[in-house]
Amino acid sequence: MKELINSIRIFLIFRFYKLGVILERISNKGFALDIFSSSFQNNPYKTYSKMRTINPIYHSKPTFLRWVTKMDLVQEMIRDDRFSVDDRKFPIAKLRRNELRRDGRDIMLDQFENPSILKLDPPDHSRIRKLVSYGFTNRYIKSLETEINDTINQCLDKTHNLESFDLMNVLAKPLPAIVIAKMMGLPDSDLNQFQIWSENLLKEVGGIGSSVKKRKLARDAYEDLIRYFEKIIIERKDNPGDDFIGKLILAEEEGDKLNVKEMYGTCLLLLIAGHETTTRLVGNGLFALLNHPDQFECLKEDHSKIPNAVEEMLRYEPPVHATVRFANDNMTYRNRDYKRGTPFAISIAGANRDPEANQDPDVFNVLRENVKHVSFGYGPHMCIGANLARIETRLVFERLLERFPNMKLGNKNPEWQKNFIFRGFENLELKV
Ligand code: HEM
Repeated sequence: MKELINSIRIFLIFRFYKLGVILERISNKGFALDIFSSSFQNNPYKTYSKMRTINPIYHSKPTFLRWVTKMDLVQEMIRDDRFSVDDRKFPIAKLRRNELRRDGRDIMLDQFENPSILKLDPPDHSRIRKLVSYGFTNRYIKSLETEINDTINQCLDKTHNLESFDLMNVLAKPLPAIVIAKMMGLPDSDLNQFQIWSENLLKEVGGIGSSVKKRKLARDAYEDLIRYFEKIIIERKDNPGDDFIGKLILAEEEGDKLNVKEMYGTCLLLLIAGHETTTRLVGNGLFALLNHPDQFECLKEDHSKIPNAVEEMLRYEPPVHATVRFANDNMTYRNRDYKRGTPFAISIAGANRDPEANQDPDVFNVLRENVKHVSFGYGPHMCIGANLARIETRLVFERLLERFPNMKLGNKNPEWQKNFIFRGFENLELKV
């Protein structure tokens, strides 16, 4: 019965949304943002560009969001403490709490009240971020290089004698998961399971047309992951060890640094952020490169250009397309009034393609000078794993170009995942 009611609710919301899109199109001389349409899914950049021209803070009523698509505004808003990431503070939280309660999701509700740093403002954000950063010093990340390289080689060894393979399954999915699991001290034998959980979890975050079935999968995965970390942390209490989880356990024991629920949220965030994004960067970057054979040749001949190419891949096809901020109070911003709790979609992908930030933004150019992007965010919430992701991606491209100098796309039109926040491929077939 609960499932039926949920299905009807999702159906009605979707109909209501579609009606909103029609009305927006009528009032907007034929233009509307439709995040569920296949044209947006295949090429969202055209839409971002149109929105930027109409209004760099574009009000899309069907999505209930103001979309910010200009680089200077995106950077300004992310750094401005009049905007918050903490949705617990605003009226929208009541809807979420009620909805989770109705769905019997006690664990998710508990975590909603004790979120990870991604959803915390200062001072809690600063307190926990400091602890997490200890695990990501430049020196430590650099020391992982040889091991990451070995892991890439081991993954690619599996393609020996093959004429074609799926890059996502062979390398882009396993590599970042193996690396983050090692950093956190999670057993290799659990890799497969938490990759499935984290893929399922993202089906609700920006999942286009999320069905009741997908939503259940996502929520079950979320709760399973929290139970998983709870078990690991209890098991390791007496012997914390020197890895990331060990350090969090010691911090929790000191009393005022971290509580146990914050610890679960931190582990969950690191596991998901640590691999879902890098996986997509590898796939998106290689797709862009193989569509530009001259640039492929250029990188093949000179590996020293790969780090700049990685920045251009991040700019051109970012794995995370948007993040959200809320107006902390009733406010006037850039001559417009906003009510407390107004949500803004900070469009990372839109800002990266802003012609005022990068010349000819729709051109992919691995030799571009001063690549400007916010693909790792900006300001206080800037990605903690950026250096790790850069090293992993650079090494992946070095090894791929070395081993498969004649590789081509097996399918010229691979399907983009149906998600308006995370952009990437499920599969990417290569002929080698
Ligand atoms: C290509 C790979 C990656 C991309 C594109 C990416 C992107 C981002 C973005 C856009 C944010 C900021 C979100 C916001 O402001 O709302 C962020 C935050 C974060 N990322 Fe990443 N990320 C990547 C890899 C990683 C890795 C490998 C890790 C860890 C192993 C990681 C851990 C984090 C954490 C902990 C935060 C939260 C920081 C905070 O809220 O203070 N990320 N990432």
